[in-house]
Amino acid sequence: MKIFLDSANLKEIEEAVKWGAIDGITTNPSLVAKEHREFLPLIQEICQRVNGPISVETVSRDAAGMVEEGKLVAGIHPNVVVKCPLTKEGLTATRQLTAQGIRVNMTLCFSATQALLAAKAGAYFISPFIGRLDDISQEGMALIRDIKTIYANYRFTTQILVASVRHPIHVLEAARIGADIATMPFGVLEALVKHPLTDIGLERFLRDWESLPAEAKQFKPARQRVG
Ligand code: G3P
Repeated sequence: MKIFLDSANLKEIEEAVKWGAIDGITTNPSLVAKEHREFLPLIQEICQRVNGPISVETVSRDAAGMVEEGKLVAGIHPNVVVKCPLTKEGLTATRQLTAQGIRVNMTLCFSATQALLAAKAGAYFISPFIGRLDDISQEGMALIRDIKTIYANYRFTTQILVASVRHPIHVLEAARIGADIATMPFGVLEALVKHPLTDIGLERFLRDWESLPAEAKQFKPARQRVG
């Protein structure tokens, strides 16, 4: 399963890139607004830092506006994937953008029937928002399982991008189901690394190492040491 970072924050993006942990980026208007930066230069800077798909969302409500904005952002860098909402206008825009060779991520997906229509419109990614379904007492992961089954039944190639991920168990479940991608905030990515037994084990190893005399702790062979 690929891991995307759901962020428009350059510091977070640079840090995650250093770990070799991320395969792409997703953004949305709320994440972009948090950065208090001019939008297009920010997207350009993200594209310079990450070698993978960068999802950038349109903000028009009508298909013509989405197509216009989509073409503009897709022109920034070949890795840009245009995000369109799962509305009738969004489906229309998806069909048109896809016909022009522009990849589309259909976002704000909350049902399997929406995901079916997105695939038929030619979406490259489908983004079901599982955390927001959990928030209203509907099982977000059940939606991922349904989409996986439907896409397999009809051999749709649209990739399932699990979004609105809130904690590591969402990531674990997405991987168990066989989702193509999970996108997550920086905090969730950090939480995937952490384990208390790793920290305790490392402390013990280093304490034991310290008990060795200085001469025994040299990493260079004796013949290469000066003096
Ligand atoms: O990828 C979509 C995501 O940004 C939405 O997450 O936590 O606002 O539901 P959330």
